[in-house]
Amino acid sequence: MIAPSILAADFSRLGELVREVEAAGVNRIHVDVMDGHFVPNLSMGAVVVKGLRPVTKLPLEVHLMVQDPGKFLDGFVKAGADTLIVHLEVHPDPRAIIEHIRRGLGKKVGLAFNPDMAVAKIEPFLRDIDLALCMTVFPGFGGQAYIPESTARIAELRALVQKHNPACEIEVDGGIDDATIPLASKAGANVFVAGTAVFGAKQGIASAVKELQQLTVKW
Ligand code: DX5
Ligand code: ZN
Repeated sequence: MIAPSILAADFSRLGELVREVEAAGVNRIHVDVMDGHFVPNLSMGAVVVKGLRPVTKLPLEVHLMVQDPGKFLDGFVKAGADTLIVHLEVHPDPRAIIEHIRRGLGKKVGLAFNPDMAVAKIEPFLRDIDLALCMTVFPGFGGQAYIPESTARIAELRALVQKHNPACEIEVDGGIDDATIPLASKAGANVFVAGTAVFGAKQGIASAVKELQQLTVKW
């Protein structure tokens, strides 16, 4: 399933573009939150989720590329977030934050890890999460190139998910386009964050989403 990242959208028309991408048939919106500390860029806060909440019924999944995600969870949930994704890099033992998101806040929880973190690091937590996000770029900016070594990492993650929690989604994020989505999909990913490939598509949003979806295989 394609998870459009609004980071790449024209913010002067954000609501309109989210409606357009919903009409194109995606099943979630990916909100890339950056704090300028965990990543070298500053993007958006809960106010954007609040603004989008009345615009779409789709689940809003918030990718917290921030040093201290715990500080922001309640604010994003109040604003209307449905899934909260935190990075293993800042929570080597995420059990408490997983518990808080799932039980305390009653929301879905995802764990993300960067291209230089061993895939095995996520293994102990797979049965407790709804989504594992294998970054295919170093986070911070849209429009980067897919790191080729990601394909083998996705396959490694798929084997672990099948072993521990087949219902856990495998999401990839960064440089996903018509050339790289078949690689990531065949390797085992089933959710694909795409910013530039959707909101920057010359052929328009609807056909870009359709084309990307057609290039994926079922898991
Ligand atoms: C991390 C961000 C980006 C973005 C997707 O930097 O999470 O990966 O969403 O960027 P594109 O699809 O434009 O490569
Ligand atoms: Zn993201």
